[in-house]
Amino acid sequence: MKKIFTTAKLVMVSSMFAMAVSVVSCGSTGSSSKSNEQEQRSYTIKTEIPVRPAGQKNVLGLTNAPIETLRVAVIGLGMRGPGAVAALTNIPGVEIVALCDVLEKNTKKANTILEKAGMPKAKEFFGDTSIWRQVTALPNVDLIYCATDWKSHATIGVQAMKDGKHVAIEVPSAMTLDDIWALINTSEQTRKHCMQLENCVYDTFEITTLNMAQQGLFGEVIHGEGAYIHELSGFWKSYWEDWRLDFNRKNRGDVYATHGMGPICQVMNIHRGDKINVLVAMDSKPHRGPQIASELYGEEVTDYKAGDHTTTMLKTELGKTIQIQHDVVSPRPYSRMYQVSGDKGFANKYPVTGFALDATDLKNLDTENPDIENLNAHGFVPKDVKEALLEKYKPRILVEIGEEAKKVGGHGGMDFVMIYRLAYCLKNGLPLDMDVYDLAEWCAVTPLSAISLENGYAPVEFPDFTRGHWNDVKGYKQVFVD
Ligand SMILES: NC(=O)c1ccc[n+]([C@@H]2O[C@H](COP(=O)([O-])OP(=O)(O)OC[C@H]3O[C@@H](n4cnc5c(N)ncnc54)[C@H](O)[C@@H]3O)[C@@H](O)[C@H]2O)c1
Repeated sequence: MKKIFTTAKLVMVSSMFAMAVSVVSCGSTGSSSKSNEQEQRSYTIKTEIPVRPAGQKNVLGLTNAPIETLRVAVIGLGMRGPGAVAALTNIPGVEIVALCDVLEKNTKKANTILEKAGMPKAKEFFGDTSIWRQVTALPNVDLIYCATDWKSHATIGVQAMKDGKHVAIEVPSAMTLDDIWALINTSEQTRKHCMQLENCVYDTFEITTLNMAQQGLFGEVIHGEGAYIHELSGFWKSYWEDWRLDFNRKNRGDVYATHGMGPICQVMNIHRGDKINVLVAMDSKPHRGPQIASELYGEEVTDYKAGDHTTTMLKTELGKTIQIQHDVVSPRPYSRMYQVSGDKGFANKYPVTGFALDATDLKNLDTENPDIENLNAHGFVPKDVKEALLEKYKPRILVEIGEEAKKVGGHGGMDFVMIYRLAYCLKNGLPLDMDVYDLAEWCAVTPLSAISLENGYAPVEFPDFTRGHWNDVKGYKQVFVD
């Protein structure tokens, strides 16, 4: 389905690029002017957007009939899945009815979590990589919770919806454009929810900053940054059948962009008033990656594709920019970056959390800080002001379950908040916090960055996955019963 220009066409495109640049530099009054964008589109690589079949409608704001007791089947019980099982045992009105993994020992171990929680044991499914097919077909399941390796996500997700189940899939839920469109089309056809389990949007700092942005503290947000910088040497050997290093070895591009994309896209209201138009990627050479693979496999690896460090830039319809980085091999401190930059303020998560704000915005803040009059945006606000801001703008979900989330845990509690919200919305028949178009946008960075890299860092059109409805909903929000 993926359609890109041939090499011959690209040569032509390159000369058009040179022309377009000279036209822009002579005639444009601003880098985000309409004419400039149109010039850029003349040489941008386009992928095919499948036509929405007649009668099929989008799933913006999709709701389901309330589900009193949510029956969940968890597929994939390696390092990640059992934490979800544990979190689900802490949510009233949830039953775990099936546990599935290729490996019997993993389903048995996950069942002990239910036993310890005083819950009935779930039916176990194990044995081979097709066993999940029996689970999606079960009649007594409302939600399939999928935490398998990346390549099996979309196949399981599509079939789960066809079998009449809602589906929640770990990150990234899809690695190719074909898989992304298959998930969108199946969700639209079956009217079943398809949510990506992107936990980082529920991190205390990110979700509070989102609230601050929505209350206007940063003014108009113009630029955002996100990343997955995590040296994974402690983990490589533990992945089932080496799926993760193998994927990095065989694929160029940002293969894990959703942690960076999710929080920034929510702040920027992507497909809720704005949309991403274009993407450009650049990567370093593969250097540490092949060394790690060679050490692990005991032989020299010469075909390793992923650059050690990949950077992707995205531009939106409203003229905003996003920068996303990926590096899982360099010895660096963990970072998701998370920078939100607006015309009145700035938020920063890594390496230190902080806010820089126009002092006039702090006048009404209930704080004892004596220097409040001397603040300016050239430095971060003092610690007590930061803490006062985090308290004042604590979002509703953290007010309600923030303390419980810390106790249950899972990446500091954000995993529990995500799973709680998923169950709460399904049980109450509310739209989920993340829809299939969020999944598509955050996952699409992987195949689109690969296309850009493979074609000399060319701009690639970012598809409108809503197919014309990106401006129907105004602003991102989480829905509650009252
Ligand atoms: N959001 C986060 O913070 C976070 C953290 C860690 C992992 N993850 C994601 O969770 C997913 C799983 O990662 P992991 O670290 O647990 O990997 P893992 O290799 O430890 O576990 C994967 C499990 O899936 C099972 N599996 C594979 N194919 C299957 C199939 N066809 N049917 C049934 N079971 C199958 C394997 O037996 C294995 O137990 C990945 O998508 C990963 O990116 C997300």
